[in-house]
Amino acid sequence: MSESKITAIRGSAITFGDDPFGEAKDTALQYETDALLIIEDGFIKSFGNAETLMPELPPGVKVTTYTDSLVLPGFIDCHVHYPQTQIIGAGGEALIDWLDKYTFVAEQSFSDDEHSLKTADTFCDELIRNGTTSAAVFCTVHAQSVDSFFKSASSRKMRMIAGKVLMDRNAPEGLCDSVQRGHDLSKQLIDRWHGKDRILYAITPRYAASSTPEQLDIAGTLWRENPGTYVQSHISESQKEIEWVNALFPDCDGYLDTYGRFGLIGPRSIFGHGIHLTEAEWQRCHETGTAIAHCPTSNMFLGSGLFDIKKAKDASRPAQIGLATDLGAGTSFSMFQTMGAAYQVARLAGADLSAAQALYLATTGAAKALSLEDKIGTLEPGTEADLAIVDLKSTPIIDYRMQFAQSIEEILFVLMTMADDRAVRATYISGDLAYTRD
Ligand code: GUN
Ligand code: ZN
Repeated sequence: MSESKITAIRGSAITFGDDPFGEAKDTALQYETDALLIIEDGFIKSFGNAETLMPELPPGVKVTTYTDSLVLPGFIDCHVHYPQTQIIGAGGEALIDWLDKYTFVAEQSFSDDEHSLKTADTFCDELIRNGTTSAAVFCTVHAQSVDSFFKSASSRKMRMIAGKVLMDRNAPEGLCDSVQRGHDLSKQLIDRWHGKDRILYAITPRYAASSTPEQLDIAGTLWRENPGTYVQSHISESQKEIEWVNALFPDCDGYLDTYGRFGLIGPRSIFGHGIHLTEAEWQRCHETGTAIAHCPTSNMFLGSGLFDIKKAKDASRPAQIGLATDLGAGTSFSMFQTMGAAYQVARLAGADLSAAQALYLATTGAAKALSLEDKIGTLEPGTEADLAIVDLKSTPIIDYRMQFAQSIEEILFVLMTMADDRAVRATYISGDLAYTRD
């Protein structure tokens, strides 16, 4: 029997024992000023006060100590398009025109193997450089764009959810497939990848406007027939899109129902945006365990609207919410920048968002939205050791500002407002050092 591999990390650390949007608002955040994390074979074995835990550490195990830093669970990006890496910042249009003018053009280049593999590598490296260790990722309609992405992700041992985009109308011919072909290719990809290493498959109808009812129906069948897989799509991002979807599906009772009708909502389904969901739709998200990915930088970039986090998390019917970049409409890989944007959007929507709440949406809350809280998103023993090590002095002005911070909440607020990729000192994936800045 081979010996297990044990490593240890010491430093200040943060995790969540509860949901800071609920009654545990002020106690959910767990801050350990001198923590020890013991990692065995890629999993967190112990986490707690360093002096208390030291006796547990087998002799000879090297302890890596991070000073002026915070150890966090690796960030989770709940909705992102890797093929759109090449069009970040292509602007000047709202959603539908932006899709036609930039997105559908860029995505056609993913029929090329070499291009998709190179982009997937660039994308995964950039996630890691930003401390993001898991994501729910849209590929393109091309099956091999999914193979390329999963090859990149699994060679880096990342826990990833992704899938082949399904479209059979209202998109260029080169990006559409027939209902049967979309089904067959998705099924082959599920058989090839789902559950392999840390890979999970998401059935990925792009959005209701680009699928016929027949395609949504077969997507629902695929989901039912392949337990443990996910569904990801878009919902209620812009008013114009909502009117279009309502006209395309006159028999459905609103946008969410275009998915609900075909068995595409419930736990392990996640929909990007949800800015303009109605009260009845929020209620249905709550009742069914359907998750929404909040994409603030994207919503501002396209001018889609202001997501109301207060409404989404209404204590009478809270929905599962995770934070997301939605690149390439989103403008940054950094979850700090995304948290900062979420804060600003909350303010503009007349809501509030504490730094602890924003961090929760990017870690533990995101894991919950993806039904993965037993695996990622916390520092709980038994979970997978994906970590972001955050520098509290990453720029001269952050270093200066931190001298005046009087609480962990204030430190997190400064990070949310000012930090970016430079603040990520190191990233660990499955217990291994995957990136170090210095
Ligand atoms: N709706 C349908 N497709 C997309 C996409 O690629 N990006 C965004 N932001 N919204 C979409
Ligand atoms: Zn999107």
